[in-house]
Amino acid sequence: MKTNGLRVTIPGKSRGCKNLVLDNPVIAASGTFGFGREYAEYIDLNQLGAIAVKGLTPAAREGNPTPRIVETEMGIINSIGLQNPGIEKFIEEEMPFLTQYNTKVIANISGNSVEEFVWMSQRLSMEKNIDALEVNVSCPNIHRGGEVFATNPEMVELITSAVRKATDLPIIVKLSPNVTDIGSVAKRAEAGGADAVSLINTVLAMAIDIRQQRPVLKQVFGGLSGPAIKPIALRQVWQVYQSVTIPIIGMGGIMDGNDAIEFILAGATAVSVGTGNFVNPTACVDVLEGIKDYMKDHHLDHINQLVGKAHR
Ligand SMILES: Cc1cc2nc3c(=O)[nH]c(=O)nc-3n(C[C@H](O)[C@H](O)[C@H](O)COP(=O)(O)O)c2cc1C
Repeated sequence: MKTNGLRVTIPGKSRGCKNLVLDNPVIAASGTFGFGREYAEYIDLNQLGAIAVKGLTPAAREGNPTPRIVETEMGIINSIGLQNPGIEKFIEEEMPFLTQYNTKVIANISGNSVEEFVWMSQRLSMEKNIDALEVNVSCPNIHRGGEVFATNPEMVELITSAVRKATDLPIIVKLSPNVTDIGSVAKRAEAGGADAVSLINTVLAMAIDIRQQRPVLKQVFGGLSGPAIKPIALRQVWQVYQSVTIPIIGMGGIMDGNDAIEFILAGATAVSVGTGNFVNPTACVDVLEGIKDYMKDHHLDHINQLVGKAHR
C-alpha cells in the first residue's frame, strides 16, 4: 500500500468550494458518536477520517420523551428526536475540543424548513474549522404537514440548492432509505449542487411490548440501525452508484472491515460507522484496521481501486 493509499478526496464541485480530503475513509456516523468526547477515552480520535457530529438544529432540543430507544435482535430502534445543544453552544463548547484533533469535522444539520437549513449553513460557514456540512433531509417539513423532506425529490433539490448558495463548504446530502427509488432522490441532490451523498439513514420501524400490549417507543415508530439494515443499505448504495457521479459515503450496519469493503465494492468512496460504536467503542479503528488488512491481502496500492468494483 502507498503511504497515502487510504486518502480519499471528495472534490468541491462548485467554484470556490473546497475539497474534503480525508486521511482515511472511516467516518464516525452522526448521532452515534456525540461530539467525540466519550470515545476519546477509548480511541485516538486522530485516527478517524472524520467525525460527523450529532445532528444540529438552530436552537437546543431536548429530544423526544422516553422510552426512545429499544434493542432488537440485530440492531436498535431509536426515536431520540435530535437532542442537541443547538448551533451556538456547539460552536462555543464543542468545536474547541474537536479542533485539538487532526481529523475532519463534518457538521450534520437538521432543519424543519429551507430557511433553517440556510441559516445553519451560513452560521457554520463562519466557523473556520468545520470541513463539510452533512445535510440531514430526514426531518419533517413544518410547512408541508410534517412530510419528511427526504421523501420528496423536489424538496431535496430545493434544500440542496439553497444550502449551496449559502456556503462554500462541501455539501454532503444524507439520504433516507424510506423511499421507493433512492437513485432518483440522489440525482436531485446532485442536481442541486451536492458534492457527495451519504446513505443510509435509519429504516422506519417499531417494536411492541407483549406484556404491556403496546408499542415500546413513546413515539410508536423509530429508526432501525445496525447489522439488520446492512443488506438494505448495500442495495441502495449500489443503486445510487448507478445514478450519480458524485462520491458516496456508505453506512448501515458496518461492524468490521469486511462490512466496509462490501460498501466500497458497491460504490462507496468512504464509509461511516454508527451503531457499531455502541457495541464496541473501538469499532471505527477496528474497521480501519480491517480495511488495511484487506488491502494488504489483495496487494492494493490505493483504496480507490476498490470503489464500485463489484459493478464490473
Ligand atoms: C441513536 C442514533 C442517533 C442518530 N442521530 C442522527 C442524527 O442526528 N443525524 C443523522 O443524520 N443521522 C443520525 N443517525 C443515523 C446514523 O448516522 C446512521 O445513518 C444510521 O444509524 C445507519 O448506520 P448504522 O447502522 O451504522 O448505525 C442516528 C442513529 C442512531 C442509532
